[in-house]
Amino acid sequence: MSYSAKTVYRDDKLANAYEDHRFRSWSGRLAGDLEKSTMLAGLKHLGAGPNALVLDVPAGTGRLTRSAIAEGYRAIGVDISSAMLRQGFLLHSLDTADPFVGAVAGDVENLPLADGAVDAVMSLRLMGHLPTETKERALREMLRVSRLGIVVMFARRTPLLKFKRAALWRTGLRPRASHWYDETDADIRALIAGIDAEILHHEDILGPFAESRAYTIRAKGRS
Ligand SMILES: C[S@@+](CC[C@H](N)C(=O)[O-])C[C@H]1O[C@@H](n2cnc3c(N)ncnc32)[C@H](O)[C@@H]1O
Repeated sequence: MSYSAKTVYRDDKLANAYEDHRFRSWSGRLAGDLEKSTMLAGLKHLGAGPNALVLDVPAGTGRLTRSAIAEGYRAIGVDISSAMLRQGFLLHSLDTADPFVGAVAGDVENLPLADGAVDAVMSLRLMGHLPTETKERALREMLRVSRLGIVVMFARRTPLLKFKRAALWRTGLRPRASHWYDETDADIRALIAGIDAEILHHEDILGPFAESRAYTIRAKGRS
């Protein structure tokens, strides 16, 4: 199924401006830092220790890949946009970091990795772009390639957050996405239970005021 984020980020101009647009202001930098540390905390809940091999998908410009390496992990990046992946070399010098195993263009619905190829998967700022059926396929793929489990940031919907998003879009403070698929916590839990997985932990980046909630998930029956 097609959705806008699958194609728009392939544009070089958009990829070049991605970090500048989102993370240059103090509030953007704060949100970016908070979400990265929340994702890394999720890896600890999975029991992924130092030197574990983690997949960042979508890696985008490599900002989370870089933070994972700084925490002592080895990392691989996958993203459908080579233009975004190239930014990882320009902005974060990933090519000079030994624990960086490599980056490859690929689709989260069909990851170019063998079963259990990595210890854990991190997925930041993707779920809100994916229609429900695509989300389900993407989550199954992440669980297939990971030995321990996955840490996934979802865009949570509550009445307050729905109102806030509409206001930000209306005032132009946040660019309006042509496709946006947020969910209630109950929807997210049903989706995860439906793919035979379980939630070990969840964490919000800013309590009730931010829609981003990271879920630490593993396949049922894995310990
Ligand atoms: C909002 S950016 C997030 C990038 C990065 N995770 C971050 O937090 O900065 C969304 C990314 O998803 C990638 N993407 C969209 N659909 C994808 C797919 N089917 N498979 C892999 N990457 C995809 C885009 O190319 C883009 O880099």
